[in-house]
Amino acid sequence: MNRTFKRILIILLAILGFLLIIALIGGFYINSAFLSFGLTQTQPDTEIDILTTGGFQFRDLNRNGVLDPYEDSRISMEERTEDLLSRLTLEEKINMLKGSGIKSLLSMEDPDLLVPGAAGTIEPVHRLGIPRVYLADGPAGLRITPVRKESDKTYYATAFPIATLLASTWNVDLVQDVGRAMGNEVLEYGLDVLLAPGANIQRNPLCGRNFEYYSEDPLLSGYIGAAMVNGIESNGVGTSVKHFVANNQESGRYGNDVIVSQRALREIYLKGFEIIVKESQPWTIMSSYNKVNGTYTSQSRRLLTDILRDEWGFEGLVVTDWFGGSDAVAQIQAGNDLLQPGTRKQWKALKEASEEGALSEGDINTSVRRILKLVLGSRKMDNYAFTNAPDLKNHARITRESASEGMVLLKNEQVLPLQGSEKIALFGVTSFEFIAGGTGSGDVNEAYTVSLQEGLKNAGLDIDQNTADAFEAHKKKNRDAFVKPEGFEAMTNPYNPPQLIPSPDLLQKAAGEADIAIVTLGRNAGEGADRVEKDDFLLSKTEKELIQNVSETFHKAGKKCLVVMNVGGVVETASWKVLPDAILLAWQGGQEGGNAVADILSGKVNPSGKLPMTFPVHLADHASSANFPMDGEPIRFTDAMFGVEEKPESEKIPNTDFTKYEEGIYVGYRHFDTQNKEVSYPFGYGLSYTDFNFSVMEVAVNDSSIDVGITVKNTGEIPGKEVIQIYSSKPDTSIERPRRELRAFGKTPLLQPGDSTRIHLSVPVSELSYWSEKKSGWELEPGTYVLEAGTSSRDIKVSLPVEVRMPQKVQ
Ligand code: BGC
Repeated sequence: MNRTFKRILIILLAILGFLLIIALIGGFYINSAFLSFGLTQTQPDTEIDILTTGGFQFRDLNRNGVLDPYEDSRISMEERTEDLLSRLTLEEKINMLKGSGIKSLLSMEDPDLLVPGAAGTIEPVHRLGIPRVYLADGPAGLRITPVRKESDKTYYATAFPIATLLASTWNVDLVQDVGRAMGNEVLEYGLDVLLAPGANIQRNPLCGRNFEYYSEDPLLSGYIGAAMVNGIESNGVGTSVKHFVANNQESGRYGNDVIVSQRALREIYLKGFEIIVKESQPWTIMSSYNKVNGTYTSQSRRLLTDILRDEWGFEGLVVTDWFGGSDAVAQIQAGNDLLQPGTRKQWKALKEASEEGALSEGDINTSVRRILKLVLGSRKMDNYAFTNAPDLKNHARITRESASEGMVLLKNEQVLPLQGSEKIALFGVTSFEFIAGGTGSGDVNEAYTVSLQEGLKNAGLDIDQNTADAFEAHKKKNRDAFVKPEGFEAMTNPYNPPQLIPSPDLLQKAAGEADIAIVTLGRNAGEGADRVEKDDFLLSKTEKELIQNVSETFHKAGKKCLVVMNVGGVVETASWKVLPDAILLAWQGGQEGGNAVADILSGKVNPSGKLPMTFPVHLADHASSANFPMDGEPIRFTDAMFGVEEKPESEKIPNTDFTKYEEGIYVGYRHFDTQNKEVSYPFGYGLSYTDFNFSVMEVAVNDSSIDVGITVKNTGEIPGKEVIQIYSSKPDTSIERPRRELRAFGKTPLLQPGDSTRIHLSVPVSELSYWSEKKSGWELEPGTYVLEAGTSSRDIKVSLPVEVRMPQKVQ
């Protein structure tokens, strides 16, 4: 007995020892590969002094007692950068090309890394007083760790509405205001670059990250994105417009090869980025994970240098997506200046290539120059005293206002706005657990989220207690399923608590006591996996039953039922939209979502949001659905950390290892309208509580632009805003082109009943060009175009022909 016991003990100890050794080796490997590598630097023990010379005050960064050119903010950025560059050793330069690992991303406390939760940093140069610069996510607001060890203070950021909602406002001024508030949090929490906005095209409804993107249309994506960049950067912090380019799915994302025509690339996928670069000159652009036609975007000199810089004039730096690409040297040579978050492998590869002459100092200098320019231009450089106390209250107000402006009223049969005295019965678990935004790096650590129930209560509406109590009991019973996953877990396991089906008794009781029913549909997706059709794009059986039962019971009792869609992307609506009396597409409105919905339902805000994408009848109606991953396979983080295995052609899996964009330019409404395919709700669609009339359209063709003037009148009884969408079509075209394409848009101010306003929009003539594969350039077809002003791509109010006679000179 004793011997057996001893043996077992020895075996157990041996296993334990073995596991310990594995853990130690693993720990050592992780530490040296991803956490601690690169140049070892020590902080000088003297402070940086402020000195005065000839009446000019400067920070003596290198502590040498004299004013050096790079310390002199009066001279040009070019001169300062060159001076600083000349002071760096080759090793210091290489050290700056890669980030400092994933310590800050993992919120590891390190005295040298001051902002836990920041996704990455640019390496400092201590001896020259060059500070560490921080990069943090993301598109719906700053993502940092909200609590820190040894601090009672909290660092919550505002969860602003998701990008798709912001695009649904079609209001560039409002988006710029949101950007200004977002950027202020970046500045005041001591960060330097926000890894946003996302400007990829919503090629297919199933892309898990669509909520981080704006639209299926490049023009709308481009102008909304530029407004966001201008707003954020007005704070003296940078942006990183991502993910450049054609990153339209999560499945196989670290190595997916996008096979796409040059025409579709130029007209659809690059176009939005082109507009953003030209309208806002962002500090940085983030290259994407995927390949385009065989080459990783981060290793494509054609994309990053020839197109982005030489053609469009981009002046900032390009940063990889986190762990993106496979060859550090090729990345620098292509014009991808900064490798994030940085690994030992990259550090070694760059050093070796430089020693062997495979990577020239000229190439290194080109990238380091861009990095230095960013650092010198940052507020960190002038030692900005950030407060760690942004005005979160004011930002909550901005969030609420922007959220209500981007919500889209899809249906309203004399039910909204509410009278104000109704008692409301809430159904659907998300009525009580409202979803603020998507998951992954686009998620924000906000202090609170206002649920629909709270929002309605705050608006003074009465909530039926029967259904509220039933929800509480359901939550208690399924306690574990109602625990919101955080961090990495949320990426692969988004929060989707189980639905509650009300019993017939409960339904009857609620229909007897309440005046109106609201059913909320919730969806939660994000980085880490694409969505799937069943129970996600399509409603689940339970959800359909819920809408059916609630609307039938309430209708029988002579009462109305409405549906609120708290979703981050497109959901099927055609099969059930007849059932409720009203449908509000609330999107995910950030932390003030419940209040914003209440503002619309109560009539405090008249809805003016318009769809930035088509709601199809069937998923398969999208041309891209023929070549899109349908199984929602989660991404593999091991691919990110250890690289993607290159497979022989014959073993490659379609839509994971490669995706053929066979639909070409026919993305979204370009496809539906050209094919005259029935849709559930068209691109640009959205209802108001009032009516508008479009009249007196005038167009004037100048050398380089077509100026459009149109009068919009509020002919209804409630103040409201309207969006004007200008499309172009070319009826006698000799090439293949979409039936119509969005060329300009604008939004009226709040118009009082009976008031009208004149909207002036301009369409650059060059924007009528198409990309000629034959000539490998933009071509303008002369002749008659029709300019159409409408309130959706299927509701054209006024149209006028214009003659574009001579082919214009196109850049
Ligand atoms: C995402 C980026 C993000 C980065 C840093 C990546 O996984 O694709 O959008 O900015 O992580 O968090």
